[in-house]
Amino acid sequence: MSSRQRWATKTGLILALAGNAIGLGNFLRFPVQAAQNGGGAFMIPYFFALLVIGIPMMWVECSIGRLGGKHGHGHAAGMIALLWDHPAAKYVGALGLFIPFTIVLYYSYITSWCLAFSLFSIAGSYEGLITRAEMGSFLKGFQGVSTNEHFASLATAYAAYLATLGITIAVLLGGVAKGIERLAKTAIPLLFVIGAVLVVRVLTLGTPDAAFPERTVSNGLGFVWNPDFSSLGDASVWIAAAGQIFFTLSVGWGIIHTYVSYLHENDDIALTGMATVGINELAEVVLGGTIALTAAVAFFGISGTEDIARGGGFDLGFQAMPVIFQRVPAGNLLGALWFALLFFGGITSAVAMAQPMIALAQESWGLSRRRAVAYLSVVMFVLTQPVIFCQRHGFLDELDYWVGAVALVVFALAEIVIFGWVFGLDRGWREIERGAAIAPPRFFRVVIKFVTPTFLAAILGWWAVTEFPAKLAMEGVAAESRPYIIAARVMIVALLIGVFALVRAASSGWTSLGREDAQ
Ligand code: PHE
Repeated sequence: MSSRQRWATKTGLILALAGNAIGLGNFLRFPVQAAQNGGGAFMIPYFFALLVIGIPMMWVECSIGRLGGKHGHGHAAGMIALLWDHPAAKYVGALGLFIPFTIVLYYSYITSWCLAFSLFSIAGSYEGLITRAEMGSFLKGFQGVSTNEHFASLATAYAAYLATLGITIAVLLGGVAKGIERLAKTAIPLLFVIGAVLVVRVLTLGTPDAAFPERTVSNGLGFVWNPDFSSLGDASVWIAAAGQIFFTLSVGWGIIHTYVSYLHENDDIALTGMATVGINELAEVVLGGTIALTAAVAFFGISGTEDIARGGGFDLGFQAMPVIFQRVPAGNLLGALWFALLFFGGITSAVAMAQPMIALAQESWGLSRRRAVAYLSVVMFVLTQPVIFCQRHGFLDELDYWVGAVALVVFALAEIVIFGWVFGLDRGWREIERGAAIAPPRFFRVVIKFVTPTFLAAILGWWAVTEFPAKLAMEGVAAESRPYIIAARVMIVALLIGVFALVRAASSGWTSLGREDAQ
């Protein structure tokens, strides 16, 4: 399609993809996952997952995306239907619309906390709350999880959410090159500059509290980087590592497809995909690993850090870091920078998550971008309300579990099997190599065909046996929260059905490639 939107520049595309991948996952989720799973014990499965899931999935999704773009599709539903000539194909692909759309509902809300906390840091709103417990109650008051002296209502959080949604809408209205690419060109370099400042600050912390000589920066680094082979037999560490790779690289979501669909058919994807992985990992293990984790160990010790991480996904970033900032000179400024960094990471990811639905609306029903964005924003706004108001009952976490952890793996497994076995590895590999600026090692052919699917199937199987029954039965959920958990599940199913219906309605003209490109 000649009218297809395109990225303006090569650097712009790489920064946009990096902005897509770099997000809250790198700075909030990664440190918590690493600490929960034993630091150095986590890193071996992590790098393994990077190699057998991250890199191959990135290439596979890039090649599907570019092929899809060539045939006028900017979303995974149309693309999977291209690869697999079967009525079910579009529904498999529909997961690639459902997943990001469901996640953006809470992801943009969390991103808005970063905006609020950046302003709180400048204003000194949390000054004097120098223990984790005090900071924890500040955070809970802000989120409306508990009522306390810090916040009388959810009004502050709500205002921050509205501002974040407004920025997201403004960027989406600009479109691919003038909106998303322009944002990434400013936000990503800025994010790295801020990250570098914070890394230098953390690395020069030394031994912040003389009363605890073992709480040092070097012990913080050692916690992450000293390999520890003792937990390699523990399946849950492998699953956590794989989950983190999916989350941080944005693979298994259906989003890489969309971004890459705005390339030309012979543009390189092999190097572009690798560059995206490389930039994301730099942000993750170097910035994400050094800033929050190392600082937490230097101030709270290893067991203290593990303890914070057990407290939940975001505690390290929102509770521990403000406590730390108050103990160092110019802490207000550092706090503002830290949360600004999170906000930039979050906003470039939130726009990415919204884009596949916009592509569907524009391509299928000929809606103008303005209209597509307008409809989508209204739906997003409405559906985020329960996330905001029912957080204390675990609504957000329930969405995150089923969609952000389970559905990704299901979609990724289906997709890689379709790519390697149905579409055919030889054709698929030719797609990856077409226009390639580097030669992807042939070893990845075996990985794509056998290793990744086996690994993903093993993860799903293990999960189905060990976790699924208890989770489904809501074990450990307080009685008064159960109706909310059920409501969250109803919303997930309703969204899935809604997306299926949209895809079905859109799909009348879609064709499959058949053996067309086979040589
Ligand atoms: N990779 C992002 C992160 O680390 C999350 C994300 C996933 C963003 C999918 C866009 C698309 O936070």
